[in-house]
Amino acid sequence: MPRFAYVDGQFIRHRDATIHVEDRGLQFGDAVYEVWAVRKGVLFDTSGHLARLARSLAALRIPAPMSDQSLMVVIRELMARNRLKDGLVYLQISRGTARRDHPFPARVVPSLILTARSMPTGPADTRAALGISVQTCPDNRWGRVDIKTVNLLPNVLAKQAALEAGFADAWFVDDQDMVTEGTAQNAWILDSSGVLRTRPATQAILRGITRDTIIKTAQSLGYRFEEKAFSRGEAYEAQEAFITSATSFVTPVITIDNHPIGTGRPGDIARKLRETYLDQQTSVKNPS
Ligand code: PDD
Repeated sequence: MPRFAYVDGQFIRHRDATIHVEDRGLQFGDAVYEVWAVRKGVLFDTSGHLARLARSLAALRIPAPMSDQSLMVVIRELMARNRLKDGLVYLQISRGTARRDHPFPARVVPSLILTARSMPTGPADTRAALGISVQTCPDNRWGRVDIKTVNLLPNVLAKQAALEAGFADAWFVDDQDMVTEGTAQNAWILDSSGVLRTRPATQAILRGITRDTIIKTAQSLGYRFEEKAFSRGEAYEAQEAFITSATSFVTPVITIDNHPIGTGRPGDIARKLRETYLDQQTSVKNPS
């Protein structure tokens, strides 16, 4: 079955989908993006991702190319054309195409790209069942990682370095030795006194949509929770550690820099949060 993408108003075969050589996303990273998880045909956390997209666009002063309602019609059509049951929807909006020059062009139309990707659920579920190992590395990103822009080179390099060193991923650590977040996930611990912690949503992290939903889930399950940064040392001493994102949901971390976390096996709280999150999301009917 052919795969379809959506580029500036047209559904097009994925392999034929292209953007202009003078797209500002390509030349300057002048673009924002979103990623939605899809399981059982359900688009997860739909409104949260739309709200963050609006915030990212506003931060860069890129006008929204269409209303949320129209965007949802396009996303649903893309999912249908790709028969997407389990996988991801990726969206990218750049400031548009113009002769290369740093200032915002006077007249430019934002460019909208959407792709869909089917993914078997097995590998992600296995990673969650076994837990993953991460290494820490200095957070060398720019000061506005709270905006979901496509400027991900430090994240790419940190991820690659982690893989080459035999880890599944990396956690960034700031110059105070406090964990900021993962390369494409928020970082959490169940600290040594049994409190769930994740870093406050300042400009130092991307405010994950999964993170925000998991905070509510944790509270509804009666877990003690604090939005409070934690150090690398506190992470080593934690009872549990895990990551959250649209691509990992909740995935336990079992070692950090080769220090086993807690029992060195996936923790009960991370497992319960993952199960509850997946149940809640897949029982939500897609808004039309
Ligand atoms: N990444 N932090 C960073 C740096 C991220 O790139 C992401 C998401 C998150 C988690 O956000 P959310 O829960 O909304 O997915 C946190 C996406 C999945 C990606 O780049 O593929």
